[in-house]
Amino acid sequence: MKIVSTVKELQHALPLEQTIGFVPTMGYLHEGHMSLVENARCENDFVVMSIFVNPTQFGPNEDLDRYPRDFERDEKLAREAGVDLLFYPTTETMYPLDMARVTVRHGADVLCGASRPGHFDGVLTIVSKLFNLVRPTRAYFGLKDAQQVALIEGYVRDYFVPVEIRRCPIVREETGLAKSSRNVYLTDEEKEEASQIYKALTVAKASLEAGDDPKKVKQQLTDRLDEIPNSQIDYVEVVDYPTLGVVSNDSTELLLAVAVQFERARLIDNVIWKKG
Ligand code: PAF
Repeated sequence: MKIVSTVKELQHALPLEQTIGFVPTMGYLHEGHMSLVENARCENDFVVMSIFVNPTQFGPNEDLDRYPRDFERDEKLAREAGVDLLFYPTTETMYPLDMARVTVRHGADVLCGASRPGHFDGVLTIVSKLFNLVRPTRAYFGLKDAQQVALIEGYVRDYFVPVEIRRCPIVREETGLAKSSRNVYLTDEEKEEASQIYKALTVAKASLEAGDDPKKVKQQLTDRLDEIPNSQIDYVEVVDYPTLGVVSNDSTELLLAVAVQFERARLIDNVIWKKG
């Protein structure tokens, strides 16, 4: 595995005639990232991973400074997973002038976007820069960030970006807790409590399956999450997927998405229910 950090080095190290699978990350790798690499390896000749904690997707009072970082460990994991090229740029490399940003027009005012204003502009800005640098055939994103996936797919369609976006399933602990770099902020007790989130989502999905009204399901899900000790609900939503708009009779996929705040970590999780 080759490690590069400048644009010039990256351009020299990219293969010319092979398919490239790209896994963009912010590091502190876990099994969720590893499964993205596995998918990328299966479908492409060459796998590129980026590790960059992108400052523009963090709000002023968020965890940019204390976001977990461990490059040595990440490098080892990326190598073991079969990454061919690891791009590890500095902020100066990724934001040389910072004169231009990508702006989301629809779908950023709900779910995580509502409580994290500007977050998705930052995500799409960095993803756009990385796509232009890596020019991947396919790019791999985990459905834990289902809103992020929907907005990246929308951006790719709107800007005619020549890349195929691959959605990958959420990887979970045995308890059901979704794998996340931010789980390190949780105490053992909180981890146990947080596993209730997926249980509540599973019950909610079964209620939709049984024909219950989405509004009623949302209320029941809220009530269940409210019972989790030492936590506070940030949002509970049932929206059309991937438009992220209001559920209608024409909706074929529904996203049940939640964010729950523990003392040091805000956790997100979701399930997608397909009609029929
Ligand atoms: O999902 C993430 O880790 C980040 O939002 C991404 C896509 C790497 C952009 O910084």
